[in-house]
Amino acid sequence: MNQFYNKHFLKLSDFSKENIYELIKISEKLKNNKKNFKEKKKLINKNIILIFEKNSTRTRCSFEIACFDQGAHITYLNIKDSHIGNKESLKDSARILSNMYQGIGYRGKYQKNIENLAKYSTIPIWNGLTNEFHPTQILADLLTIKENIKNKKIDQIKLSYIGDINNNISFSLIEASIIIGFELCLISPQKIKSNNNFYINNIIEKMKNSNNIHITNNIDIGIKGTDFIYTDIWVSMGEKISLQLWEKKIKKLYTYQVNKLLLKKSQNKNIKVMHCLPSLHLYNHYKNLFTNEIISKYNLYNGLEITDEIFESNNSIIFQQAENKIHAIKAIMMASLLKE
Ligand code: CP
Ligand code: NVA
Repeated sequence: MNQFYNKHFLKLSDFSKENIYELIKISEKLKNNKKNFKEKKKLINKNIILIFEKNSTRTRCSFEIACFDQGAHITYLNIKDSHIGNKESLKDSARILSNMYQGIGYRGKYQKNIENLAKYSTIPIWNGLTNEFHPTQILADLLTIKENIKNKKIDQIKLSYIGDINNNISFSLIEASIIIGFELCLISPQKIKSNNNFYINNIIEKMKNSNNIHITNNIDIGIKGTDFIYTDIWVSMGEKISLQLWEKKIKKLYTYQVNKLLLKKSQNKNIKVMHCLPSLHLYNHYKNLFTNEIISKYNLYNGLEITDEIFESNNSIIFQQAENKIHAIKAIMMASLLKE
């Protein structure tokens, strides 16, 4: 029986390095089959449900396309339109949906909620993002990294992540680095805040024993010789979004932008730029979110966490990351739904 059969995919730290490598291998194979029109439908007659509490473009579409490609049926439930977590507990919902479906994709607020859903569900639960983690994204990113390295293995790369280091992407990258052993440099003026969160406390503890993860506010040191530079939006969906919070983050992070100068400082002309998306790189798309005063005070005419110039540059592998979400999510679903 395959080792992932009937297993949940809640966070990367539930898996070993060999497990993650195996899932990347399955994703590669599925991608190759799809590109060469050789894909075989193996999830015919399976019913899948997506429960999303937060907005999504890529993750939702990737789950849906993975199902369409494999012949499964899919229901999308926006939490606002259902009883889940409102009149009905997650515990009840898990047991009800386990009798109707074969798998649940969940995007929600707290990691403890998805862990609770998994505890009472008899079918696999896949994490499509929580405040703490985004493991399906990072699996797609590892596939993308593998596709972009020639003379190195994944555990030999240096990846620098710059900006807001207290979000689901940075935390999942830390988990990936702990498991796989690649060098991870977090570049930020922030410290990791646990706020007594069990999952973040766990990460902090594990980081103490790791010598491949560094946190620095020194951009020059953090970026030097890196293979990949990764950034994410400065205010995440799980935060209490307000203009005040945005201004606070901008004030702290505006010098930690991915721009031409940062790439130059890496001294690696082949450096690859990553972003999970969505990204605020286009002035026209964020000009109405902020006051003119903020935009001019911090000179944010060319992008926030990343400039449009670098977003559109040949160094960017951002759209490859987005596409790879289909293959990674499909791999996770198939691995947990198929016995062999
Ligand atoms: N990267 C990512 O998860 O994108 P969505 O929020 O659009 O799903
Ligand atoms: N950190 C971001 C990731 C979006 C895919 C958020 O949670 O909003």
